[in-house]
Amino acid sequence: MKLWGGRFVDEESKLMEDFNSSLAFDKNLYYQDITGSMAHVKMLCKQNIISEEDMKIILEGLTSILNDIENGSLAIEGEYEDIHSFVESNLIQRTNEIGKKLHTARSRNDQVAVDMRMYAREKAKEIIENLTELIATTKEVGEKNHVIMPGYTHLQRAQVVTFTHHLMAYYSMFIRDKKRLENAMEILNESPLGCCALAGTTYNTDRKFTAAELNFNKPVDNFLDGVSDRDYLIELMSDFSILMMHLSRLSEELILWSSKEFDFVEISDAYSTGSSIMPQKRNPDAAELIRGKTGRVYGDLISLLTTMKGLPLAYNKDMQEDKEPFFDSSDTVLKCIKIMNEMIKGLKVKEENMYASVKKGFLNATEAADYLVNKGMAFRDAHGVIGSIVLYCEENKIAIEDIELSKLKEFSELFGEDTYDFIDYKNTLLQGIKKIM
Ligand code: ARG
Repeated sequence: MKLWGGRFVDEESKLMEDFNSSLAFDKNLYYQDITGSMAHVKMLCKQNIISEEDMKIILEGLTSILNDIENGSLAIEGEYEDIHSFVESNLIQRTNEIGKKLHTARSRNDQVAVDMRMYAREKAKEIIENLTELIATTKEVGEKNHVIMPGYTHLQRAQVVTFTHHLMAYYSMFIRDKKRLENAMEILNESPLGCCALAGTTYNTDRKFTAAELNFNKPVDNFLDGVSDRDYLIELMSDFSILMMHLSRLSEELILWSSKEFDFVEISDAYSTGSSIMPQKRNPDAAELIRGKTGRVYGDLISLLTTMKGLPLAYNKDMQEDKEPFFDSSDTVLKCIKIMNEMIKGLKVKEENMYASVKKGFLNATEAADYLVNKGMAFRDAHGVIGSIVLYCEENKIAIEDIELSKLKEFSELFGEDTYDFIDYKNTLLQGIKKIM
């Protein structure tokens, strides 16, 4: 069934009908479409645009459609152009045609705009809730594992850090991600319902009423913008992309750390997989998939940005292309957050291996140079002296702290007994990052 056709003489081609139809994906919006319509019909009655009796019939019809969809007795399928036509056609059938009054003072342009805002708002809320759990897990697992590990720059061992400090870096990123999402939710929370096609309507509607009914802060200020704004989706997808970038970096670390080359952590069996041919393998598939899926979330963002870049005001059918990227990216992000949360919860930290790696990496070289500076040497000179000591250590396969004092003094007379305490790994931590933890 079509919602238009009065001014057409010839039949629409089947090819065009299929091409034009969005039901296969906008069926995701059934709940928002029905609740949006309920708010609209209440407003029509309150403003004396339709009678109370008609309102009741329409509300009952809409409720029965919602119930039937949710209990599985009404499948969203058939020759409908979109979810709006599907709901309206069903309503008309169930209400002895009274449902034909529902679309008074409304266009599908403001209808789809309000549906999509509600959907985006609910998805963002769910993502924030799950992110909040991940934030708590990251903190808990970080704080539980206060063990020394090498910190890296250029993926070369650089200075001593703790696993706590390393994981808390992601905690900080996730906190920012959450703030970004909350901010985007605040910005999007305005109702476009009542903008109609692009220029409002001749009826005496009450946009504030529908905005309040649907829990929006207020109606949008501008009708043309209201029906054609997709910024809020782009903004959320930008936030998803940044969040995925963070999840992907953490995944990359988990992949590296769980390799035999690092052997710093073990990902639980529940989030690892085996190889069909190599019996010894434990693959970090969950982390790899998060890293891989980051690409599709970026793609979804770029897809909608590109769709929107050349569109004149106001609504254009191109905008139907906002749905699949948003559905895909929001579902993907949600799954990745849940998986990361479980992976972090079950992570086994291999303290001894991390410490052994610290020992091998001359991670107290910077502090050894600082020691000489404290004794009066210029930092550049101290840097040179320690450089020669590291060379000596490499040749003799020992760590700086294993060199005898008499030998150290050959490099610089400034070395004294207290050198060893000063360059002790735990002590270097106390002097450095421990101060801010
Ligand atoms: N399926 C359409 C979309 O997603 C609904 C709005 C249709 N509006 C119109 N003027 N044809 O954008």
